[in-house]
Amino acid sequence: DKGGHKHFMAKEIAEQPTVLAEAIRSYLTPDGKGIALPGDGIDFTTVDRLTMVACGTASYACLTAKYWFEQFARIPVDVDIASEFRYREPPIPARTTALFVSQSGETADTLAALRYCHEKAERIVSVVNVPESSIARESDLALPIHAGVEVGVASTKAFTCQLVVLLLLALKAATDRGEMSADELAAHLAELRSLPGVLNAALERGKDVRKVARKLAEARDVLFLGRGLMFPLALEGALKLKEISYIHAEAYASGELKHGPIALIDKTVPVVVMAPRDALFDKTVSNMQEVMARGGKVLLITDSEGAQDAGEGVWQQIILPSVAPILTPILYALPAQQLAYHTAIAKGTDVDQPRNLAKSVTVE
Ligand code: F6R
Repeated sequence: DKGGHKHFMAKEIAEQPTVLAEAIRSYLTPDGKGIALPGDGIDFTTVDRLTMVACGTASYACLTAKYWFEQFARIPVDVDIASEFRYREPPIPARTTALFVSQSGETADTLAALRYCHEKAERIVSVVNVPESSIARESDLALPIHAGVEVGVASTKAFTCQLVVLLLLALKAATDRGEMSADELAAHLAELRSLPGVLNAALERGKDVRKVARKLAEARDVLFLGRGLMFPLALEGALKLKEISYIHAEAYASGELKHGPIALIDKTVPVVVMAPRDALFDKTVSNMQEVMARGGKVLLITDSEGAQDAGEGVWQQIILPSVAPILTPILYALPAQQLAYHTAIAKGTDVDQPRNLAKSVTVE
């Protein structure tokens, strides 16, 4: 049932405020000020290293979480794509927790990587949407993301729910390790509880994204740029776009621009810049100006402060509400998804069943 939407993907994008609210609620203590994990939970004081493994969109959730875990909890984190991890057979140091993220819980490479970690990692944790899946069953602790069934082949609500669960884990790790006070935690959780309302406000601006998407649909190649927490989001935006609109899209960390990709810039290649007005904003903007100085067309995704400071001369803009810096990846996932969706609609491709793709990749 598409719930009145034309596609499952549209429905699943629209559902995000509701499913995220449920995911958040299920991990908070009744007073909303603390984090309660299911089962025996995790005591992060004994974790020296976190190894995160996944495929595709789920791997971008891991990459985002790396920033959170390192910044808040000061835990070193490796992120690997499962198909590389499993055959590289990396050494697993003592006191490593291995964390696997998978919507389906059945992805062959991720499951094989998990099995490789049996008896090597101190603890195996998974973040899954399907609690009875193989990956969940073979973990010491399985953390559900509560996204509900995801039908669209392109992952949307599962990604943002994965981000919520991973953020809560990083905040839990930070408090366990004495890197964050109970008051600071409570403040972050209050921000997180207000996120569904912010996402609703962002979804209401869907029409703006549709207008921009009609123009983007004319491109053959698109670049996505982002820095810090926006780098994994740029990767996700590019993946979503190529997956369902079949437009060639690549993502780079903004700082990598001058190490090669800037050679691609001309007026035919739109550059999507994801840049909330955060601590790295000025750096990203200076990369964006390098693009514009070479005749590149910039689509800036930012908040109203960012638009005020840097919107001049850009080709298109998508303006989002402002949120606390730690929440920007979850919010900026929405325009990344909507942009891909509306671009695909403008091109007439099959949004829910893109060619050559399967929802669950159970063979390698
Ligand atoms: C992209 C997408 C895929 C999956 C990947 C992993 O939109 O859906 O990249 O994220 O195949 O799937 P799961 O999470 O089921 O392991």
